[in-house]
Amino acid sequence: MDLLKSAFDMLPRRRRRSPGSGSEQAVLSTKTAAALLCAACSPHAQTGSGGSELPYYGRSPPFCPSPPGNGSTNARWALAYGHARDLVALMTVDEKVNITRGWPGPCVGNTGEVPRLGIPALCFADGPSGIRGQEFVSAFPAGIHVAATFDRDLMYRYGQALGSEYYGKGINVALGPVAGPLGRVARGGRNWEGLSNDPYLAGAGMGAITRGIQEAGVIATPKHWLLNEQEFRRRWTPMGDAISANVDDRTLHELYAFPFMDALREGAGAVMCSYQRANHSYACQNSKLLNGILKTELGFEGFVVSDWDGQMSGVASANAGLDLVMPNAGFWGDSLLQAVHNGSVSDERISDMATRILAPWYYLRQENAYPPPAIFNNLQQHFPVDVQGDHAKLIEEIGAAGTVLVKNVNNTLPFKKPKFLCVYGYDATVKANPWQNRDRYSGGYDENFGWNTFNGTLVTAGGSGGSTPPYVVSPFQALQERVTKDRGILRWDFYSDKPTPYVNADACLVFINAYASESFDRTSLTDEFSDRLVLNVASWCAKTIVVIHSAGIRTVSAWITHPNITATLFAGLPGQESGHSLTSLLYGETNPSGRLPYTVALAEADYGANLLNSTVSFDPNPDQDFTEGLFIDYRHFDRHQITPQFEFGFGLSYTTFAYANFSVSVSAVQHNATNLAEFPDDNVRVVQGGHPALWEVVALARCVVANTGEVDGAEIAQLYVGVPGAGVDSPVRQLRGFVKVGPLVPGQGREVVFELTRRDLSVWDVVAQKWRLRRGVYRVWVGASSRDLRGEGELVVG
Ligand SMILES: *[C@@H]1O[C@H](CO)[C@@H](O)[C@H](O)[C@H]1NC(C)=O
Ligand SMILES: *[C@@H]1O[C@H](CO)[C@@H](O)[C@H](O)[C@H]1NC(C)=O
Ligand SMILES: *[C@@H]1O[C@H](CO)[C@@H](O)[C@H](O)[C@H]1NC(C)=O
Ligand SMILES: *[C@@H]1O[C@H](CO)[C@@H](O)[C@H](O)[C@H]1NC(C)=O
Ligand SMILES: *[C@@H]1O[C@H](CO)[C@@H](O)[C@H](O)[C@H]1NC(C)=O
Ligand SMILES: *[C@@H]1O[C@H](CO)[C@@H](O)[C@H](O)[C@H]1NC(C)=O
Ligand SMILES: *[C@@H]1O[C@H](CO)[C@@H](O)[C@H](O)[C@H]1NC(C)=O
Ligand SMILES: *[C@@H]1O[C@H](CO)[C@@H](O)[C@H](O)[C@H]1NC(C)=O
Ligand SMILES: *[C@@H]1O[C@H](CO)[C@@H](O)[C@H](O)[C@H]1NC(C)=O
Repeated sequence: MDLLKSAFDMLPRRRRRSPGSGSEQAVLSTKTAAALLCAACSPHAQTGSGGSELPYYGRSPPFCPSPPGNGSTNARWALAYGHARDLVALMTVDEKVNITRGWPGPCVGNTGEVPRLGIPALCFADGPSGIRGQEFVSAFPAGIHVAATFDRDLMYRYGQALGSEYYGKGINVALGPVAGPLGRVARGGRNWEGLSNDPYLAGAGMGAITRGIQEAGVIATPKHWLLNEQEFRRRWTPMGDAISANVDDRTLHELYAFPFMDALREGAGAVMCSYQRANHSYACQNSKLLNGILKTELGFEGFVVSDWDGQMSGVASANAGLDLVMPNAGFWGDSLLQAVHNGSVSDERISDMATRILAPWYYLRQENAYPPPAIFNNLQQHFPVDVQGDHAKLIEEIGAAGTVLVKNVNNTLPFKKPKFLCVYGYDATVKANPWQNRDRYSGGYDENFGWNTFNGTLVTAGGSGGSTPPYVVSPFQALQERVTKDRGILRWDFYSDKPTPYVNADACLVFINAYASESFDRTSLTDEFSDRLVLNVASWCAKTIVVIHSAGIRTVSAWITHPNITATLFAGLPGQESGHSLTSLLYGETNPSGRLPYTVALAEADYGANLLNSTVSFDPNPDQDFTEGLFIDYRHFDRHQITPQFEFGFGLSYTTFAYANFSVSVSAVQHNATNLAEFPDDNVRVVQGGHPALWEVVALARCVVANTGEVDGAEIAQLYVGVPGAGVDSPVRQLRGFVKVGPLVPGQGREVVFELTRRDLSVWDVVAQKWRLRRGVYRVWVGASSRDLRGEGELVVG
């Protein structure tokens, strides 16, 4: 959601339009109610406010009518639907309309209540890595940091801990996790909120985090559906319509919708639609995306909530599948009531909207004694509820597990009781006064609790996805704690880019960062001040260790090969325990196992124009054509044989691992590769998450991983698949499995089994409109990264 403004992003809080103007007029020109219903999904209604001619892609195809949710996914949804339908049957149209809109209230979003029937307002809050703007809440690592752990168990525990904080504060709906943006644009301002640009890794995180949040009793809201891949022109502005993300059908399925499937599969009760347009139709009124892909193909049972102020029409959005508008009545409220009375929105649709909002409430059993909102919003004073529990321990663990060691020569790390450390750079310590800005909107602290570059250590980044730390353990604080234990000394300079040399230092740590925020994209993946600082220290310090906190990719070619730079860590956005996570790695109490969740290029231009910059266009009807298709990040580097600085999936350890005995075969359940059907069985009903057969394990890969070094450590074994056609119409290889193996003691080996589902091996067939197992040879690799491949096998599907 959006709480920020910038020159490129200036949608007024409430944008009113006279009834019957723009797309609504066209919708309502037909006569009968039935015709009106379909007209609302007509291609014309699919457009945004502009009606200009469309250069590349056509308009998004209408998908009509909106499929009512029915709970047929499983017994738990069926039960929830039973309760929701009974309640909706008692509601007047007025009351149904009331719960489909936002009202002022204590939370960032509050639905209308129905006092007559005891239906409370549902409380919505940001964000994906911690409750934003509140006191006595934790600041968890950001999504991209969690992804870098490549650890499903940590992802799940992250979701559980987050969920328990939301629950404790009486928040019904958590606005996360994030898989949109996926991370197509290297400089994208929000890539750090999401779980990496690889759909499989992101999907694993989306599923595990959703499960964790919902097990705590809180409704998860995977967002932003769909294709919100850049910040520039993401919204309507006086300059014109929002950017139109124009993506082919196969890419939409295999990259962008893919990770959402995992969250849906785990029962996600809500989905947030995005600001921008897709094929010229605003995402919150795009019936192909909402009615078609989300509610029909993926069987979504819950409700679609608009991104804040993201609704762009009344009747058209209702009939396209939007169920709830936030944060106010938007184009609904009394207008929706009228539209139901005059038949342009059907009774079935408004009942479905209300049912879809109440079903997840029952699904999560929130009707029974849910805690009341304990939200601090500057309007009232109260003793805040402390929901932090013992989450600091988990935060420290994830902070360390998601930190990636990319260079370590001559055993610079781990430290062996150094006596004299130098600490340099603005990122080593805390910002002088991060609370200087009050956020009048969320009521909490600091409009933007991220730190700008040069303004202190970066533990979260900017905008609604940022967290509000209860405290921040800076790297400097944690280093002081360690050095005092060893009776050593420290010298530091947080300001200069040419700090004083100390010839007796055992090592010099240089802390730099790369900031990003919602509402604007980055202009560079590097900055000169930081590069100069690193080079100046390295010019006299023979053991220079660089630590980068970054909200996404940070290129390092200005200095990474310097002989005096003997260690480098990508420390991500680790959350409140930042310093402790880091010292645990520096001093070898934790052996690094984090892996890069993106490609670090040698030069920014290597990403290619499509993937580097977002479109900054003054066109009133701007387009962003995803002409690269499936080939983003490492798929692009592999396809064009571009050597990266550090490839996707790369990361070092203090020990070494050997891989042996790799094999891949059709799973025992399926017996035989020749009787694997090409398509899932049409006679089987779709459930939430898609066709159930997509989730069946059809093949297994195995290998043995052994610790061949001298210290305990865990390896991230990765499985990559090249489908038949790889290198032609498909990526050379794509991540389709990962297992964190260990920790293993020196000499210890363990068998690793990767499960490959039908979805993992399928491509989206645009003609059949189904996931399809291709006939032919699948190449399968196990590796320590996307380029460090340690075993290869084949799977013949015939
Ligand atoms: C957008 O247009 C492309 C090309 O016509 C089509 O393949 C795709 O399915 C459309 N997607 C949406 C969401 O309308
Ligand atoms: C609609 O919701 C508002 C805000 O929660 C509440 O004050 C009002 O009574 C509700 N109206 C109806 C008809 O229930
Ligand atoms: C329930 O909805 C799903 C998704 O729209 C649909 O496929 C299914 O046929 C519906 N089931 C019933 C019993 O109506
Ligand atoms: C129905 O109500 C909607 C919402 O107020 C309005 O925009 C539209 O003009 C009405 N349509 C007709 C046919 O009266
Ligand atoms: C590593 O250590 C050896 C032996 O002390 C030294 O000769 C070499 O220059 C060092 N290499 C680097 C990259 O510092
Ligand atoms: C530090 O932050 C302040 C306020 O956010 C900003 O105005 C200033 O430019 C920042 N300093 C630097 C050096 O970026
Ligand atoms: C590396 O550090 C040493 C001091 O230990 C210095 O003499 C040397 O010039 C540095 N190397 C480079 C390439 O800057
Ligand atoms: C690999 O398999 C062979 C044959 O089954 C076996 O002898 C060997 O011990 C295995 N290697 C490892 C490292 O498990
Ligand atoms: C695999 O299945 C096919 C088709 O069902 C059958 O003809 C073939 O004999 C089976 N092969 C094996 C090795 O079981």
